[in-house]
Amino acid sequence: MKIKDIEIKSNLFLAPMAGVTDFAFRSVAKDFGAGLTYTEMVNARGLLFSKNQGIYEEMLKVLPNETPCAVQIFGNDPEIMAKACQHPLVQKFDIIDINMGCPAPKVVKNGDGSALLLNPDLAVEIAKACVAATDKPITVKMRVGFGKDDCVAPNLAKMLEEVGVAAITIHGRTRQMMYSGKADLDIIKAVKDAVKIPVIGNGDVVDAESLKAMQATGVDAVMIGRGAMGAPWIFAELLGKSISPAQKLEAIKKHITLLKDVYSERYLSVYLRKHFLWYAKGHKNAASKKLELARMKSVDDGAKTLENIFLENAHN
Ligand SMILES: Cc1cc2nc3c(=O)[nH]c(=O)nc-3n(C[C@H](O)[C@H](O)[C@H](O)COP(=O)(O)O)c2cc1C
Repeated sequence: MKIKDIEIKSNLFLAPMAGVTDFAFRSVAKDFGAGLTYTEMVNARGLLFSKNQGIYEEMLKVLPNETPCAVQIFGNDPEIMAKACQHPLVQKFDIIDINMGCPAPKVVKNGDGSALLLNPDLAVEIAKACVAATDKPITVKMRVGFGKDDCVAPNLAKMLEEVGVAAITIHGRTRQMMYSGKADLDIIKAVKDAVKIPVIGNGDVVDAESLKAMQATGVDAVMIGRGAMGAPWIFAELLGKSISPAQKLEAIKKHITLLKDVYSERYLSVYLRKHFLWYAKGHKNAASKKLELARMKSVDDGAKTLENIFLENAHN
């Protein structure tokens, strides 16, 4: 499939996830066949005005072979969002995605993320300004609506298409639902039917069955978030490949090694803890090793525990 002029080889995408989709994790997901990956969301205002540009350089690190890759920005000021699209750190990416779905209270309170669903005219103004600011494809990721019974997505998608947005991702929940209940596949289908640009369906895809249900809506691509946490090989598995414990361990080692090139041991021994716990999940002996991982003293310590978990499972 194509998003504007960007060719994408697989229609299974890795979702943007703050605190999860670091460059190394994305690179591993790419190895396993993720067609398009996204950075975590980046504050447009912070990117433009923060004195500490180092934070943004780290957040927006991308390896040369991770292509195509999308950067996601958030904000509610059309001029600032447009300027952010022109920022050199953003221009490194193939696609620029605008966040209109984040439900986090601190984001919504500022009028960003899913709060834009309450103000479709402003949402469109932002998209229009971004489209005018760059030749890169501008895409939007949104939820169904804000309140319990709100359903602005199909109409908003149409309005965004009219101002030149190149693709829409729709997560089939309202902001009010946060992560509860189920993604509404009928509304995802309604968004697909409302526009001609590619639509990416998102929400609750974790296995072949849920993938099939999402694909039945007619969407052009499927985005996977939580299903990839601790399982960047999900893309290969959904493409029908069997991934051995040894291959999984190799992937985990790559994730760690790439991060070690950039971050300090002190930072990683805290940051990687959650990833290690996700990697351990579902293994027979994981429960007893959980505490060991949660209390790991060093990255190598945790990696050794994980290796034992995977090897023990491989021999069971
Ligand atoms: C830990 C976490 C962080 C997330 N961060 C972002 C983000 O930065 N930008 C965004 O658009 N969505 C973010 N999301 C939402 C996901 O991209 C996705 O829309 C949501 O998890 C539903 O898909 P899933 O059911 O496949 O997980 C995040 C979700 C999680 C669980």
